[in-house]
Amino acid sequence: EKGGYETFMLKEIHEQADAVAETIADRTARGDGVDLGDLGTIDDAFLRDVRRIIVVACGTSYHAGLIGRYAIEGWARVPVEMDVASEYRYRNPVVGPGDLVIGISQSGETADTLAAMRLARERGATVLAITNVMGSQATRDADGVLFTRAGLEIGVAATKTFVGQVAVMYLLALRLAELRGTLAPERLAELVGELKRLPHHITEMLDAGDEEIRAIAERHYKAEFFLYLGRHIGLPVALEGALKLKEISYIATDAYAAGEMKHGPIALLDDDTPVVCVATDSPVLDKVVSNIQEVRVRGAHVIAVASAGNEEIREHAEEVLTVAETDWMLAPLLAVVPLQLLSYHVARLRGLNVDQPRNLAKTVTVE
Ligand code: M6R
Repeated sequence: EKGGYETFMLKEIHEQADAVAETIADRTARGDGVDLGDLGTIDDAFLRDVRRIIVVACGTSYHAGLIGRYAIEGWARVPVEMDVASEYRYRNPVVGPGDLVIGISQSGETADTLAAMRLARERGATVLAITNVMGSQATRDADGVLFTRAGLEIGVAATKTFVGQVAVMYLLALRLAELRGTLAPERLAELVGELKRLPHHITEMLDAGDEEIRAIAERHYKAEFFLYLGRHIGLPVALEGALKLKEISYIATDAYAAGEMKHGPIALLDDDTPVVCVATDSPVLDKVVSNIQEVRVRGAHVIAVASAGNEEIREHAEEVLTVAETDWMLAPLLAVVPLQLLSYHVARLRGLNVDQPRNLAKTVTVE
């Protein structure tokens, strides 16, 4: 059942290339655009004219939504609002006809996410569910469904379903851009091509990077605190990396927009605090590098996630986790993988049960 792996989580980390490939396969078959298939009552005309999108989700699914927000706003120029479902449902949100509300839930059974979706639907919004489970409640409570095709996930820590969700958000963003004409046809085709190459990059990284990541984990697994920093699309990756580490290793983590550091979290740093910085190539990379320098001055120990080809980053970070070069907006799908592995190895070195961490349930069916 674990297919030769020591845990379900490790098996599922290694299934991520397939999860992405399956999720995008037929939807990108055309090559020059994206087909989302049957979206129930959500038709192309609605998507083309949609004025606003609101994403509701919990935990890791919320982080997938955050990445989707950058892609949808960046490529399709539709404004996207985000909220964790447990907040959204109780804040009497301004929502109604013409809004597209997207509920993201691996299980499709998370009580708060379902409640947020229902509230939006009662107020006249159109609701789209993104889920990994056919027949789940979310599929019944929505006007349309987009499935991730990650296969059954057993480990409590979401891994392959997360990359599936992020892939779906990219597909949706590209489809919206196509319908709205906000990307040139060549650019659209280029991005579809890059998306299709991601599974290959994930496989390569899993084959090549694991030992190095384990060595980094060995140096830091006794730390009491890890800080994660990122900007723009690197921020949700930092948030997800931090969540993964705290849930399976029980180490305190904080994740911050790197630009917020001086507004508080920098006070937490002392000698050797591990600081994980998401520093993949992007228009804000030089800003991230300045933040890394500030962290170093305080004696902290920087572990950077950077794009292959960025040799300079080694001058700034003690340890570098390398991911393949791709379009910068797509980098989160690669950058999250070494952070999952880092958490995994840290937790295993601490002798913990990563598949069933204490106090956590795979599906949270009560609020
Ligand atoms: O099934 P869902 O995607 O709705 O679950 C949401 C969260 O409970 C879930 O992502 C949780 O944060 C995971 N344990 C993260 O690894």
